[in-house]
Amino acid sequence: MSKPKGIIRTDNSRPKILIIDDDSVSAMAIEGLLASEPYDLFFEFNGPDGIEAADKLHPDLILLDVMMPQMDGFEVCKRIRLMPDIAEIPILLITSLDDDTSRITGLRSGADDFISKPYNRMELLARLQTILRLNRYRRIAEKQSELLIAYDKTIESWLSALDRRDKGTEDHTNRVTQMTLKFAQAAGFRDEELADIRRGTLLHDMGKLGIPDSILLKEDKLTEEEWQVMRLHPVYAYQWLSSIEFLLPALDIPYCHHERWDGSGYPRGLIGAEIPLAARLFAVVDVWDALLSDRPYRKAWSGKDAIKYIEDQAGKHFDPHVVHEYLKMIIEY
Ligand SMILES: [Fe+2]
Repeated sequence: MSKPKGIIRTDNSRPKILIIDDDSVSAMAIEGLLASEPYDLFFEFNGPDGIEAADKLHPDLILLDVMMPQMDGFEVCKRIRLMPDIAEIPILLITSLDDDTSRITGLRSGADDFISKPYNRMELLARLQTILRLNRYRRIAEKQSELLIAYDKTIESWLSALDRRDKGTEDHTNRVTQMTLKFAQAAGFRDEELADIRRGTLLHDMGKLGIPDSILLKEDKLTEEEWQVMRLHPVYAYQWLSSIEFLLPALDIPYCHHERWDGSGYPRGLIGAEIPLAARLFAVVDVWDALLSDRPYRKAWSGKDAIKYIEDQAGKHFDPHVVHEYLKMIIEY
């Protein structure tokens, strides 16, 4: 009886199953049982070749025989679990029905489940279907978290670009980000909302990339016309970023951080609770940090003076309730 071919079928959309089994009769039995199923089957006949194939193929599932010469299935399993790129691939160990010792050793070696010889077709198919489905969910979740990391890296690059033009903004942004997150957490925002608040805070002055150097970097006071241009920066941020669906929930802060409780802010002149809560929290933190920092035209304020100013602005610039909660947090801090 000849051994199954190395690769039976290939189609990128179909799950890949790698079968590592030195027993060609057993391998052919699997091939026969799965012939009409939508899987691509790959065969290797010893442990070292199996590990190499797993590393190359990144299969969706490995069916692994326990009893093999040279390197048994337990050792193959252990080695795969130590290889970061393929450590998460589900492994089904092929054991005899009554072999409890192998099952326990298999679990200790990192196997996910077992399948018994002789094979029961329905059981084999059900087991494969379940484990492949779970693995698909795991891969989707993995891709999503990779995407989130990539988005966040992009945001950090934008922040660096802004800092290159408007020196010193990065430190201010990092400080207000930490403080806003702490404040928002205390205010009861959930973890997913905090992630959006973090992105919004990092991006709060992103729109300044659209402000000409002659205005953004001007050391003298801005004229009224120049202020009109400067006041467009929240609008620019909204226009540029609102087409990115992932960032939409993060835009409250870039778009509304210059709104004021009494309606005298910009760009839309929102009043009171029309201003999103995240932006109301951020506004207090942003001014607080600015007051406590040295500026080219003035020294940093004392904590006492900054508290007095923030208190005085309750109901004018800031939401009075937010001011109350913020000062409580600062004093406890
Ligand atoms: Fe701003």
